[in-house]
Amino acid sequence: MADRVILEAGKTFSEFSLLTNFTSKDCTLQKISLGSSLGGMKLRLPFMSAAMTSVTGYEMALSLGKEGGIGVLPARLSIKEQVEIIEKIKGYEMGFVEDPIAVRETATIDEVVRLVEKHGHSKVPIADRNNVFLGLFSFDKYLEANATPGESVTTIMIEPKDLPCSKNPNISLDEAKSELTEKNYLVVLDELGRLVKIAFRKDVENIAVGAAISTHKGWKNRAKSCIDAGADMIVVDTSDAFNEFTMKVIKEFKEMNDSIPICVGNIITYDGAKYLMENGADLVKIGMSSGSICTTQREKATGRAPMTALLNAARARTDFQKDTGKYVPLVIDGGVSAAGDMIIALTVADVVMMGGYFNHFFEAEGEKLDENMQVTNHEPDIKYVATWGEGSARARNLDRYGHVARKTFFAEGEEGTVENWGRLKPKLKQDIRKIKAALSNTGCMNLEEFRNKAVIELMSTYTQQIVGNTHNMQVKE
Ligand code: IMP
Repeated sequence: MADRVILEAGKTFSEFSLLTNFTSKDCTLQKISLGSSLGGMKLRLPFMSAAMTSVTGYEMALSLGKEGGIGVLPARLSIKEQVEIIEKIKGYEMGFVEDPIAVRETATIDEVVRLVEKHGHSKVPIADRNNVFLGLFSFDKYLEANATPGESVTTIMIEPKDLPCSKNPNISLDEAKSELTEKNYLVVLDELGRLVKIAFRKDVENIAVGAAISTHKGWKNRAKSCIDAGADMIVVDTSDAFNEFTMKVIKEFKEMNDSIPICVGNIITYDGAKYLMENGADLVKIGMSSGSICTTQREKATGRAPMTALLNAARARTDFQKDTGKYVPLVIDGGVSAAGDMIIALTVADVVMMGGYFNHFFEAEGEKLDENMQVTNHEPDIKYVATWGEGSARARNLDRYGHVARKTFFAEGEEGTVENWGRLKPKLKQDIRKIKAALSNTGCMNLEEFRNKAVIELMSTYTQQIVGNTHNMQVKE
């Protein structure tokens, strides 16, 4: 008979509800921070994009990195490809946006929001018919303003007097940079006040980027090359990390590098988490069979409900911390697909890794498809984005799944499509606000407080239907 038969069903995020707690008047969304410290490195957002070839390449890693998260470049890429992307991200500098897309003063707030959603730029200049600059629409300000969509955009625009502006249309990049010490952008006008260009500053902090390695031959060279190129984190990406190979990799990695953290996964049990912590993992990544494209459970019956796996890893962390004084951040990977899942996951985990969620955006690596499933790069026509798992027949990441030969390979992931959600930034900002609103409801100013103070409650299936959905009504189309 099996050593242990657990008869309590495993749980996922959406089975829990977050209880509210006292909120002080200072606990406003503007003051809440979603930053975290992970094995010595800092992130402004607790998000990682999955090391999947359909998700993370240059565009995704750059966009998420600029917002304060971190993209993890898949180990399925060649070392050269990983290195080139890291170097490009590290070399990313501010530049001028010549002829920025501007709207007229007659535009409504709703029209401008749609433009932001389409292009992903959260600042839109407003100019009159002679291109004279009138003000700047800021998506952040809009989210905080109590504005009616049909109102004129001028009601919430930032006036030129409150903006960093230069009246020198020939300003050089270096001159612009020196003016950008406090603000993230500079509006450049000509002598008649007409809009010429806008300079955006490279994010105040470093744009973080991570690189995945496997536990198979060649990992050392890959890790070393990525570190030399400027990677901020190395992620050991294997579907089952509770083994001697992974332990050896952590030990040897630690001997060759002590400047950047190593995130190791995946595990799903208390023992697995403890094993990685005891062997020196700086971060531990949790999840198996919960990924949106994953068929592992179906194929070989291994895996675990993600919230249960996370709670077990968290118990291991508590015990490990009691013994050693060391706090090991946890990364939940797989099955997080909406803000509600992120919120419940963050009551325990320090970071959320997502594949399917990020796959929906223009910045994902998957091909963009129109309504006839034809490849297109014409943004208005994009209806779907291609997705595939690392264990799918398309990616055939043999190392991740421990398949030794191509002949014996069996797929553990699907290939398909997801709906197109447009550009990453606007949707991400909306979801960040939902997370901050949840923190505010619990009276927490940051994620550490949230992990220590949050109270979550399991719902019955019946309650989920009532609390988690609308009921006894028809939703307007
Ligand atoms: P998602 O956020 O639910 O889409 O899960 C993403 C995670 O699924 C990744 O970070 C991997 O851990 C996992 N994954 C990626 N590709 C495959 C696959 O082909 N089979 C099983 N799991 C996969």
